[in-house]
Amino acid sequence: MPDDRNDAGLDFAVVAKSNPASNRRLGVMVSGRGSNLQALIDAVADGRLDASIAVVISNRAEAEGLERARRAGIEALYINHRGWPSRDHYDRALAEELRKRGVRLVCLAGFMRLLGPTMIDAFPQGIVNIHPALLPSFPGLDAQRQALDYGVKVTGVTVHLVTTALDAGPIILQRSVPVLETDTVETLSARILVEEHRAYPEAVKLLLDGQWTLAGRRFLRPGSPAEG
Ligand code: GRF
Repeated sequence: MPDDRNDAGLDFAVVAKSNPASNRRLGVMVSGRGSNLQALIDAVADGRLDASIAVVISNRAEAEGLERARRAGIEALYINHRGWPSRDHYDRALAEELRKRGVRLVCLAGFMRLLGPTMIDAFPQGIVNIHPALLPSFPGLDAQRQALDYGVKVTGVTVHLVTTALDAGPIILQRSVPVLETDTVETLSARILVEEHRAYPEAVKLLLDGQWTLAGRRFLRPGSPAEG
């Protein structure tokens, strides 16, 4: 059978349409600090984001994100990625825990593991990630350092749907951030992080509110001239 998937693992022929979600339960996956998780918790708490966080899962027991979840009264689950016969087994365990809790949308927030087809297929167009650069520039680790080293004058934030290809799924929302001549990785990362914390709840709201179309790689909303 011919493989008609593109580099992002998406079938260009498929055009998905989304209706407003009645289930607005999120599962958030973290590996570390969890400041983007906190941004989601805060947005839910102050009514900017009409959703509930059903569970926070981490592959690292000591992740600060788990502590943030507990403090907010959210179930915090540690599932070690080690010790499984294969990545597929790990993915299956993750999907099962998320499904058990009725999760509709999975938000990766500094989750440092690649997800395989089992997880991606368990949540069609239902896994989202935040990346600290304007993709497709600077995918992978140390995106802020990559941007600084390359010498770009503008970088930013991308929220995108997750596919099996690293940082390559359809883009939901991007925000730009200037790179200053005086920047270090730390100062640039801090400026990007401010935008991350605004962008992530907004993008999650867009996804849950529905009325968007996925045409190939393009995430389109009503009123967008591109949708024509
Ligand atoms: C953020 O920069 C995010 O864009 C990237 O990993 C970092 C996670 O930070 N995917 P935090 O754990 O949310 O504070």
